[in-house]
Amino acid sequence: MKHESIEINSGLLIVLTLAVISIGGLVEIVPLFHIEETVEEVDGVRPYTPLELRGRDIYVREGCYTCHSQMIRPFRDEQLRYGHYSLAAESQYDHPFQWGSKRTGPDLARVGGKYSNEWQTQHLVDPQSLVPESIMPGYPWLLENELDYSQIEDRMVALKRVGVPYSQSQEEYDANVEQFGADMAEKLHVGNATEVLESQAGAQNWDGDPNRITEMDALVAYLQMLGTMVDFSKYEDGHFNQFR
Ligand code: HEC
Repeated sequence: MKHESIEINSGLLIVLTLAVISIGGLVEIVPLFHIEETVEEVDGVRPYTPLELRGRDIYVREGCYTCHSQMIRPFRDEQLRYGHYSLAAESQYDHPFQWGSKRTGPDLARVGGKYSNEWQTQHLVDPQSLVPESIMPGYPWLLENELDYSQIEDRMVALKRVGVPYSQSQEEYDANVEQFGADMAEKLHVGNATEVLESQAGAQNWDGDPNRITEMDALVAYLQMLGTMVDFSKYEDGHFNQFR
């Protein structure tokens, strides 16, 4: 059949177009029916603590994702530079996830622990003071703005609705003790959110000033956690290939 005969016959063109699109659609949709097998079973991945969660909100608000992805791809060069490729399980509590393919700056999926809190704060206030050739803009207001965490409980409840296991009832709390350990379960309980956030903000010198809780405290706490949940030394090389 000539291509022309498809092009001039709009009924046929519509049918064939739909056929082609539905193949693409199936390729995307079918794996979702096997999501249980697609998300790797791995220890350590947990929902964000209240302080990290606010940090993540600020990350999204400031548009950090327009230059930074959080998705290390399973290629040799990427793994040499950034570490183990990202697992689906590592972003299972992210709504919305921060993958992305646009990298003006480096991938941040495993930036946690790479630099000190002091470096992170200084770099966010004035990137060029540490990396002179950097084109990243400064975010000095993060250090001035007090962190607003008045809605932290509502934010956790909203995420709970889409499946993030923050606890409200005793049963949910007990399930979290089982899954994440007693210390972490305490931090994931909605009723404790304000207290837990304040204590985590004070426990480490995130932004250099322990006397006030700033947006910088939250963002640095979030960055320092990125990619640190899974202990890859516990797994053999290639262990996660079975899930791909
Ligand atoms: C205009 C693009 C752009 C935006 C927006 C941007 N960055 Fe960057 N970022 C860069 C570039 C380029 C680098 C590499 C040079 C440097 O270290 O400053 C970088 C580096 C970094 C690093 C160090 C990464 C490493 O492994 O060395 C961190 C952490 C970081 N950015 C965090 C952030 C955060 C948090 C935000 C949002 C508040 C943000 N960036 C917004 C471009 C950007």
